[in-house]
Amino acid sequence: MSGARGQFSSKTGFVMAAAGSAVGLGNIWGFPTQTASNGGAAFVLVYFVLAFLLAYPALMAELIIGRHAKSNVVSALSSVGNSTFTRRLGAGVGYYGIIIASLILSFYTIVAGWMIAHLGQPFTVLLDMPEAGTWLTTNSTTRDLIFGGGFACITMLIIGSGIENGIEKWSTRLMPVLIGLLLLLICYVLTQPGAMEGLKIYLLPDMSRVSDPKLIVDAMGQAFFSLSLGVGTMLVYGSYLSKEESLPRLGAIVTLVDCGIAFTAGLLIIPAVYVAQHNGLTIFDEAGELIAGPSLIFQVLPSLFDSMGAAGTYVAIAFFALMSIAAVTSSISMLEVPVSMVVEKTGIERKKSTYLIGFVIFLISATIIVNFDALFGFVIDLTTKYSEPLLGVMLCIFAGWVLHRDKLLAEVKSGHPDIEHSLFWKIWPTYVRFVCPVLILVTFTQSLAG
Ligand code: PHE
Repeated sequence: MSGARGQFSSKTGFVMAAAGSAVGLGNIWGFPTQTASNGGAAFVLVYFVLAFLLAYPALMAELIIGRHAKSNVVSALSSVGNSTFTRRLGAGVGYYGIIIASLILSFYTIVAGWMIAHLGQPFTVLLDMPEAGTWLTTNSTTRDLIFGGGFACITMLIIGSGIENGIEKWSTRLMPVLIGLLLLLICYVLTQPGAMEGLKIYLLPDMSRVSDPKLIVDAMGQAFFSLSLGVGTMLVYGSYLSKEESLPRLGAIVTLVDCGIAFTAGLLIIPAVYVAQHNGLTIFDEAGELIAGPSLIFQVLPSLFDSMGAAGTYVAIAFFALMSIAAVTSSISMLEVPVSMVVEKTGIERKKSTYLIGFVIFLISATIIVNFDALFGFVIDLTTKYSEPLLGVMLCIFAGWVLHRDKLLAEVKSGHPDIEHSLFWKIWPTYVRFVCPVLILVTFTQSLAG
């Protein structure tokens, strides 16, 4: 039914695609602002510890199940099952993951649409079309539908082209551009007056906050979202990976790249906010907290770019291009989750499946746009706060308890023959059975209590 399954052509292709999925708005917007509102470098520290202690093992669970089953998330989890109950449970978890991935994509599309609209604004300055510029940067249902729709089309075009010609090709092209733009912007912002103060706030830890439950809960949520965990994205990408590659090594590289880029993005955003303050802009809200939500990205930073004179126009282009690229390499990985299931389960051709599902997801985005106040925050909480951690626990349980240990070992051994004697194999199997589910659940309950 599925015919020949696509596959990443190389190790680099996989790393670019998986890191592209992981590195998104969560890194460039979420991480720096969470850091700023959670005691600066104390958050960075806790985040890195949790990323390696909790998120990396969960990422491994997804990659191993995916490459073992070589199929979409529903078939993979049900094929791992060793009884009717676990097979049905697996399919149920798979379908739930698909729904959550689709819902994440539906709000991500809206936010990405805002990024593209703001990317258009500096061009209206260059072309001397101020009215168009105002339209692009003023909230309206029409603007959101047009730009959200445009972004959804880009995502569908890439996914419709398949694994190697779509996901891999575009991630490999766009990720270096993303890193280049990020570094360029940092170099510029750090030379501006006020930047050093932001850098200090970002890098000096307030150690008294390290054990703050809110900080820990936020850091875990951020780590899971940032590594695209729980919804089957990494499982599906793992299923396109050749048996010759070492999973623990590639998983570690992806985690490192994701953490590295999140940290680097902080070197841009936090100093930029303090440069804005130096230029006379308000950066704290009435409660004395640093402005972190949409107004940071769509008001504070654009006003900062304005205050930079002619150079500001180009800085704005670079900044919103960076955001748009980060969004697209992540959104394609979300769309691949339902598309791979439909292609493999129904035999409907890839392009057709992509446009069908992409259209349905865009209808959800449109519903959110039209009922913005009631739905936007609700969908974000439902998916990232409540569903991703629970799905993460289920994936650890499937890897640790349901998939037979011999099969698990055979899978990690493939591409890494001496793994049995490594630290990874000594720790990970027990870890993913007990420590990960318990720690995730404890943190999750804390977040509900908070
Ligand atoms: N990791 C992406 C980000 O940081 C978001 C994402 C979540 C992507 C879930 C895929 C699946 O923005």
